[in-house]
Amino acid sequence: MQEAQRRAILVGADMDMAEVRRHYQDHSWLAHIAEPSLADGFVLDHKPDVVVVSPRAADRAAMLAKRHPNVSVIAHTPNARSEESLEGHDSDHGSSVQEHRYVDSAPSDQTLVAVWSPKGGVGKSFIATNLAVAVALSTQAPVALLDLDLHSPDLGVYLDLLDGPTIVEVLPHLSSMRSHDLEQYMSLHAGTGIRVLLGPRRPELADFVRAEQVTTIVELARRRFNHLFIDLPPHAGEDMVYECLEQATSIVLVTTQDAATLRQTRLTLETLSSLCIDVSGRVRVVLNRYHEQDNVSVVHVEDFVGQPVVATIREDRVSTEKALFQGTPLIMTNRSPALCNSLQELAHQLCLGNTPSPKRTEGLWATLRRRVLDGITRAS
Ligand SMILES: Nc1ncnc2c1ncn2[C@@H]1O[C@H](COP(=O)(O)OP(=O)(O)OP(=O)(O)O)[C@@H](O)[C@H]1O
Ligand SMILES: [Mg+2]
Repeated sequence: MQEAQRRAILVGADMDMAEVRRHYQDHSWLAHIAEPSLADGFVLDHKPDVVVVSPRAADRAAMLAKRHPNVSVIAHTPNARSEESLEGHDSDHGSSVQEHRYVDSAPSDQTLVAVWSPKGGVGKSFIATNLAVAVALSTQAPVALLDLDLHSPDLGVYLDLLDGPTIVEVLPHLSSMRSHDLEQYMSLHAGTGIRVLLGPRRPELADFVRAEQVTTIVELARRRFNHLFIDLPPHAGEDMVYECLEQATSIVLVTTQDAATLRQTRLTLETLSSLCIDVSGRVRVVLNRYHEQDNVSVVHVEDFVGQPVVATIREDRVSTEKALFQGTPLIMTNRSPALCNSLQELAHQLCLGNTPSPKRTEGLWATLRRRVLDGITRAS
């Protein structure tokens, strides 16, 4: 009697199907998935018996084996048919990780800090990372970072977490996901215990992520973590950005003393205000890359943007670049104490002090935005 063929898929773009068929003749091939981050969802949906992972996608093999224990995962090596048993492989996240207590329902003292600016390169990722670290190091409560700058995610670089799963892998499971499941897709930062949801590995993958999926992810994360930090993309006008701003307990609006950035910051505040977002209650203007000698003083900035500056973070290129190069958040190094103090104080203000609770504006935001956009369209 003929033995049933094993249903298999190939993962990775650096091998062609003809070669693989020659190696594995007793298999029937369901698909060739060139983009490794899409393999997880495919395996879940089609339940193959075997997943053959190409050499360049080899870092996926252990993760796939762990997530799909009934599937035989083969890390293919050229000129050999080596079938490594990867089942039960447990990735080592380091032993110096702090123990954290995890919560099952939305914590009552939950904070969600959205770090945002309408301008790129002003320090959003730097500030989001260091604030999360500052909070994680001064509390036993669970802390998470979401990298929602989907086309240009940088948190992995700031935290030296480049190989973990990304938001793209979460998507196929989202409809049935519970809050603790999300954690499987978040990388653990050793030493602080922060969970990080990394952004897509390549910019074009960002197009797979829809605003409503981001909303679900944020809601799941809110149930799991007491302090959630979101790194947002440097532009407005995206549903996803609005959804996050709507949910945030604090919106850290990062600006600099640069005239173009200040102008954009002011315009953004006017837009937020015209959309009835409670600007005074939730927006915190942070002046980054601050130079005391600059012609534009803090008072000038406050006058121009019409909001108090809640923190000034001075510029220190040498220290920040060294920290970034090492993949260690600045606040965990001994460098630049004045800059680090400003970040610590801001973190305390946002998460550990008396942060005003958010105004619930569900539904209102989208309605108002539509009205304003309709008004603009009619007027033009
Ligand atoms: N206070 C500071 N002093 C010196 N360098 C800084 C400071 N803040 C941020 N930087 C540096 O500026 C660069 C841009 O910072 P960052 O990546 O955080 O900006 P961003 O707003 O997230 O940019 P993007 O919009 O491209 O995502 C980085 O090299 C970072 O290390
Ligand atoms: Mg960034």
